[in-house]
Amino acid sequence: MNKWKKLSQQEIRQRIFSALSENVDYYNENILGVPASHLDDKVFYQNAPFLEDAPFLSTLIHNPNHIGCHTLGSSESFFKGTQQIETEVIRICAEDILKGEGEFDGYVASGGTEANLQAVWTYRNYYQQEKGAGLDEIALITSADAHYSAAKASDVLQISFYKVPVNQEDRSISQEGVRATISSARHEGKKYFIVLANMMTTMFGSVDDIHCYTDVLIDLSVDFKLHVDGAYGGFFYPFARQENDINFSNPHVNSVTLDAHKMLQAPYGTGIFLIRKGWMHYANTEEASYVEGQDFTLIGSRSGANAIAIWMILMTYGPHGWFEKTLVLSHRTTWLCEQLEERKIDYFRYPDANIVTMKASYLNPKLCKKYGLVPDNHEQADWFKIVVMDHVTVEKLEAFLADYDTMS
Ligand SMILES: Cc1ncc(COP(=O)(O)O)c(C=O)c1O
Repeated sequence: MNKWKKLSQQEIRQRIFSALSENVDYYNENILGVPASHLDDKVFYQNAPFLEDAPFLSTLIHNPNHIGCHTLGSSESFFKGTQQIETEVIRICAEDILKGEGEFDGYVASGGTEANLQAVWTYRNYYQQEKGAGLDEIALITSADAHYSAAKASDVLQISFYKVPVNQEDRSISQEGVRATISSARHEGKKYFIVLANMMTTMFGSVDDIHCYTDVLIDLSVDFKLHVDGAYGGFFYPFARQENDINFSNPHVNSVTLDAHKMLQAPYGTGIFLIRKGWMHYANTEEASYVEGQDFTLIGSRSGANAIAIWMILMTYGPHGWFEKTLVLSHRTTWLCEQLEERKIDYFRYPDANIVTMKASYLNPKLCKKYGLVPDNHEQADWFKIVVMDHVTVEKLEAFLADYDTMS
């Protein structure tokens, strides 16, 4: 615990350049066998003076490939310097942010979709390998508000998908809903359950009460594995609501998805998959024999610059700085909600969340278009959301409200 400490810009720079110096140097070493190189030097600057102060851009130019998983066994030794930084990112996320004790594996995935697929793939293989389960005996369960990547996972991995209904007022799931969903799945021959619980949903920012799942599954003596989808909420909710048990302090939570390219404002390609030690091997592809350490991930080759970006953001803020950032966004969201209440606009906000979802019937479609509000359904919208990100300032919200007043 407490690996996460704020660093100065100079310390960050030193650490990244020292990591890059431990990676392969394509210019000065005789590296002949890898189908990889630095970025093309006719197209991308290699020696521009500003690069000395730009550790992320320098990493892009060095172009490390972080193929595989670096928290277990061996990995491609060509890129060991920056892989070490990725390992630190995984530990900070699992231990400092998600309160895990013990050991964890994980990697920087292409995004939340891949990390969710990686989880479902791991548990599907576990049930097949350890329990002799057939595909038609394994079910994926989420709430009706879960991200569509769950539907993708069910399709790609060929297991049935069941949705637990949510209360339309507060977007919550209930024990009765979980019980009914499990019963109908069991009725259809499902014996093994993969649960994806939400730590802030895409449209409503709501968080599932994890006990609704675990109490019922335990009561019914059902075999289950539980993954948390924190793609949206993983870098927000643990700070906004510090006392919570949708993290690794809960023994039922076996793996978690986070996305640094959402709230953390990292470049795209920075999903994070985290799992307790001892599970990653269910997703091993033994045929990856030319990769040193083999490949336990869905993606294959991936840029090491993504891990560097996450590490730099985490180190620039430190835990207190990041907490303050989420607090500001949360306060701004409260301000917006007060303005909506004054105007009697019907909206949903999960406590402390930075998403406000308004009933479409209160809003002029032209206003929604002008301010880039996102609907739940582009064909027929019931809801539109505002996501209070860094760039969504009070001034911009004021402009939206002023236009609302004029148009209504
Ligand atoms: C809750 C949730 N899970 C998963 C995803 C998928 O993430 P990505 O688009 O990075 O694949 C999203 C994206 O919005 C999300 O909100």
